[in-house]
Amino acid sequence: MNTKVSASILSADFGRLEYELRRSEEAGCDMIHFDVMDGHFVPNLSYGVPVLKSIRKYCRLPFDVHLMITDPLMYIEPFADAGANHITFHEEISGGKDAVISKIHSLGLTAGLSVRPKTPIERVFPYLDRLSMVLVMTVEPGFGGQGFIPETLEKISALRAEITRRGLSVDVEVDGGIGFNTSPKVRAAGANVLVSGSYLFKSEDMKAAVDALKRDF
Ligand code: DX5
Ligand code: ZN
Repeated sequence: MNTKVSASILSADFGRLEYELRRSEEAGCDMIHFDVMDGHFVPNLSYGVPVLKSIRKYCRLPFDVHLMITDPLMYIEPFADAGANHITFHEEISGGKDAVISKIHSLGLTAGLSVRPKTPIERVFPYLDRLSMVLVMTVEPGFGGQGFIPETLEKISALRAEITRRGLSVDVEVDGGIGFNTSPKVRAAGANVLVSGSYLFKSEDMKAAVDALKRDF
């Protein structure tokens, strides 16, 4: 399966985001992963609509927005207007998931649903027909630079098996602790979109780092 890399700019140098975006594009990243945190769904804050709007013009890659927020519905339109191409939100929110997916689709974007490491993967199965991507968190969401949780591998395999069984073409994205050492494991389990933050942005040669993530094994 063709592996894609989504560069998580949570680990970028915010003082020179234009350079970091250019570096990601030139290194062969396929998309930019934009983590939004509200200090409620996760115990951290990051950035939001004005930042996305401002950096959109410096990058031609698609923006893969990951909403770690309690109430995504009211923010879908502002993120779409700001230039998001894909929006993923979390299964664990209390509100209706179908309404959020419909809102994303109504604005011409693709939708994704994400699960925390302890959430059973079966919870996303009822929505698979309407999703272009499922994001399996491989760390607890909220912070970059954490260690990969190996127990998530089984969820990746179960998700890929269900997608295959139903003949769907849904991307399986993983996020958290992804580097050259964990890439072969998640890809073998069935992931085809790898989010990577600290590994990519701390590398001196980002192209070599991206190549390592995509290398055949
Ligand atoms: C964590 C975020 C991730 C984070 C990954 O809540 O969703 O996208 O940036 O960072 P690394 O690759 O450093 O684990
Ligand atoms: Zn993320």
